[in-house]
Amino acid sequence: MLILALESSCDECSIALLEGQRELKVNLVASQIELHSKYGGVVPEIACRRHLEVLNPLLSEALETAGVDFSHIDAVAVSHRPGLVGAVLIGVGAAKVLAGVLNKPLVGVNHLEGHIYANFLQHSDIEFPLLALVVSGGHTSLLYMPEHCRYELLGETRDDAAGEAFDKVAKFLGLGYPGGAIIEKLAKSGIPGKVVFPRPLTGKAHLEFSFSGLKTAVINFVNSNTDESITLEDICRGFQDAAVGVLVEKALLALEKQPVKNFLLAGGVAANTALRESLRQAMESRGVKMFCPTLAFCTDNAAMIASAAYYLLERGLVSDLSLDAYASLPQL
Ligand code: KG4
Ligand code: ZN
Repeated sequence: MLILALESSCDECSIALLEGQRELKVNLVASQIELHSKYGGVVPEIACRRHLEVLNPLLSEALETAGVDFSHIDAVAVSHRPGLVGAVLIGVGAAKVLAGVLNKPLVGVNHLEGHIYANFLQHSDIEFPLLALVVSGGHTSLLYMPEHCRYELLGETRDDAAGEAFDKVAKFLGLGYPGGAIIEKLAKSGIPGKVVFPRPLTGKAHLEFSFSGLKTAVINFVNSNTDESITLEDICRGFQDAAVGVLVEKALLALEKQPVKNFLLAGGVAANTALRESLRQAMESRGVKMFCPTLAFCTDNAAMIASAAYYLLERGLVSDLSLDAYASLPQL
């Protein structure tokens, strides 16, 4: 079973070829970061145009690298929601043409589902039922999975996503885009506890998140701070500790509500070492195995879409050529 997968929902155009469950033949990612960084965030119009330019050459390169041609492909998968709708549409359009011309099944994959399945691509010992925390630039969602391809949403953000908060704080501090990795690097040399920010919605019995207030707290602090001994690194450290603290607390609360033995972390913010380590420690001390993808598979890539498609195909959960692109969920 050779799956061709396309991912174009934001500022990465990616194509992967996956043989069976885990044999990744190729995973090419054409990042647009340098195009968007001067604007401090993704410009949808620019993202769409660039996807159009790079998709066909990337497809040829992927086939050549994997040493296959169109006749070897058994199914075509595409991330079809959520995302910047114009960007998603480019991948969906291409996938529909390919599936139609090759007369092979088309599999529409929810982008969040893709992030979760990056874990199944890399780990063969994950057991159900499990909990998953997807933390990306667009989403912060805690999910319960009783089995493959079935999801129960336990909680999500009421406003900004975790990654969005990293990006907006970095933009405010003049650090560039995307902000997550830059803040993480600076936070490493910040003094823990020198600046303490509020941890929104913690201490509550529900599993919802809010990151917008944390971002505002950073802005207000910087605008009113008169203590010159406080460095940019200390501020980044304070912000990251608060964001990670909230995520770990809610993950543990989810575990109390659904006592499972496996926990998956996924999405771009899962690349954050402080988050990975705090969550791993918290889970392991409760006898729970924590899984997260290697760094390159945390941020957007088509390999994760191919991985999700493998399990969807196995269950007959395929789409048809009426598949459309959507900006928002309905939830998984
Ligand atoms: O999953 P992703 O590539 O795209 C979306 O689906 O949104 O996630 C991108 C997000 C950005 O907000 C970026 O700042 C964040 O992931 N990110 C990080 C780190 N690396 C990427 N956040 C915190 N620490 C990192 N090391
Ligand atoms: Zn993503």
